[in-house]
Amino acid sequence: TYQLALFGDPVKHSLSPQIHQGFAQQFGFDIDYQLIQVSAAELRSRINDFFNSGGHGANITIPHKQAALAVTDQLTERAQQAAVVNTLFIKDGQLWGDNTDGAGLVNDFKQKQIQTHNQRILILGAGGAVKGILPALLATKPEHIRIYNRTIEKARQLAARSGNCDVLIKDDTTHAFDVLINGTSLGHHGQSPPLHPEWIKPHTIVYDLSYGEAAQPFLKKAMQLGVTKTFAGLGMLHHQAALAFERWFNRVPKITLPNNN
Ligand code: ATR
Repeated sequence: TYQLALFGDPVKHSLSPQIHQGFAQQFGFDIDYQLIQVSAAELRSRINDFFNSGGHGANITIPHKQAALAVTDQLTERAQQAAVVNTLFIKDGQLWGDNTDGAGLVNDFKQKQIQTHNQRILILGAGGAVKGILPALLATKPEHIRIYNRTIEKARQLAARSGNCDVLIKDDTTHAFDVLINGTSLGHHGQSPPLHPEWIKPHTIVYDLSYGEAAQPFLKKAMQLGVTKTFAGLGMLHHQAALAFERWFNRVPKITLPNNN
């Protein structure tokens, strides 16, 4: 049995165990995917215990994706670029950190035929979730990415690390966008960030990085403003999981998403 785990807080509603069981079944692997709720203070020791007792691979989720960097011996290129880690694996006796969120989002966009190349993108939020996807999105060469955040300074810091990326000052409604992405954590509190009608055109696609109930406040607001193409992040979740699975088992699993995802 391969031991896998998710470290985060909270973890109990995670869909990762089912997703990875589904992948493992495709190859006849026997896995045990545990959910480990852990505080920041205990993160390092719990991860070390897990791998010292035979753990095969792990995922990291909120709020530890940035702190997990410091637990690793080595980082993949995309984890270095994002400075956020969501996947841990062992290679040559060392603990490696990878980031599959960014590539997972881009793969989901591909599957949904959401274009980003030469497109104008607005990202709401400038926390860990946004940091994790930004390099992969920029690599698709959008016309530009603008970042809008409650705390402008955090948006500035993120934009400064990346070319072709700029800050949208509060209530600047002089721009419209082709793709709008919610990366704030507001949906987990039943709220939506501001969504100005001026940002939206008839063809605008709206995507929320969260899924389930947490994605609803923002996507509902978008639909009320006439957006017809709205997506929650369930596809991204499956795609990031598939890339993590590939790191652990060197196999590429098939992804089956529920209808309308
Ligand atoms: P995560 O790892 O989920 O990205 P995070 O790093 O704490 O979590 O980031 C949360 C994001 O949601 C931030 O962009 C945050 O804005 P600030 O940078 O201003 O804190 C945003 N956010 C959270 N609560 C918010 C609120 N009540 N109003 C506006 N933005 C909020």
